[in-house]
Amino acid sequence: MLRKALMTTQAEPVDVSQAKVTVVGVGAVGMACAFSVMVEGLCTELALVDMAGEKVQGEVLDLQHGTTFIRRVKVYGSKDYSVTAKSRIAIVTAGVRQQKDETRLSLVQRNADVMKSIIPQLVKYSPDCVLLIVSNPVDIMTYVAWKLSGLPRNRVIGSGTCLDSSRFRVFIAERLNVAPDSVHGWIIGEHGDSSVAVWSGVNVAGVRLRDLNPNIGTENDPEKWTDLHTRVIRSAYEVINLKGYTSWAIGLSTAHIVKAILGNTLQVLPVSTYIKGCKHGMDKEVFLSLPCVLGENGVTHIIKQPLTDEEKALLHKSANLMHEIQMGIKF
Ligand code: NAI
Ligand code: 2OP
Repeated sequence: MLRKALMTTQAEPVDVSQAKVTVVGVGAVGMACAFSVMVEGLCTELALVDMAGEKVQGEVLDLQHGTTFIRRVKVYGSKDYSVTAKSRIAIVTAGVRQQKDETRLSLVQRNADVMKSIIPQLVKYSPDCVLLIVSNPVDIMTYVAWKLSGLPRNRVIGSGTCLDSSRFRVFIAERLNVAPDSVHGWIIGEHGDSSVAVWSGVNVAGVRLRDLNPNIGTENDPEKWTDLHTRVIRSAYEVINLKGYTSWAIGLSTAHIVKAILGNTLQVLPVSTYIKGCKHGMDKEVFLSLPCVLGENGVTHIIKQPLTDEEKALLHKSANLMHEIQMGIKF
């Protein structure tokens, strides 16, 4: 055989995966997540799953054909969940998406039904994995996934407001003409219409913008900085109206979360987590985004972020809304 003629065998390569990531759902979002994870060299194996079998095979081949140009990664996929075995992270992006001007919350029962067909399969093949939920409405889908999975709460995470916080930082950075990663600002609560902008903490190099403009983020601000949070909330609607869906930013944002988990970096990111009993007096069993420390086993800690009374009240409103909608889900 040519292979034997080319090289002398000392030992065959060991087929051990250091970091296997699964992506369920190979639509616009799933492929943006898969592509970002792959290009950033975060995993050694990438498994794709979708109920649309031919689409999976097409996406697998298309990614494989580019692996000459990146760090070595094995890409494969199937309709069958056995290919996901021993994943360290399973990213779930399957389900329906919003149409023009439709809210995320209107997707709830349809995507809860999708979760029922996916989560038990993922847990069966990767009982030690971290589930990273992206499908919308993401906070409620994370709760649904937690309930269906039986996994400890630290290992069921939603992509949450990592994306919203990025949009927020990008918009503030544009206005200040500095780099987005030099703006420190947090959007917490729901990934969606009731998200909360923590204006009290926004800073550049530790300089709090509220110390310079005490009305920042309020209706009394003549500079109208609060419009930037409105723009964050409108962002998805704007992109969906223009191109039909959002994909690249959520792909990059998800890869950023994956990097923290697989690298056990203990980076603090806004992701959706179980918040009952946290510092802000939450008494409802809901998942919402707060600054979380991320490591190998998911969320290790929630940062006790100081909030104003108004920010706290908005967070509670977000939690109550999530809880009310969750009550109507048919499991
Ligand atoms: P898409 O329609 O392009 O892809 C969805 C994929 O899910 C399809 O390939 C479909 O075959 C697959 N699928 C549906 N039911 C399935 C099942 N039971 N098992 C396996 N695969 C199944 O949709 P797109 O644009 O990729 O969006 C996916 C989800 O991500 C939506 O719920 C959307 O709202 C959400 N999303 C969330 C974001 C976030 O920040 N959390 C950002 C953008 C989108
Ligand atoms: C986004 O914010 C639609 O949730 C999606 O891009």
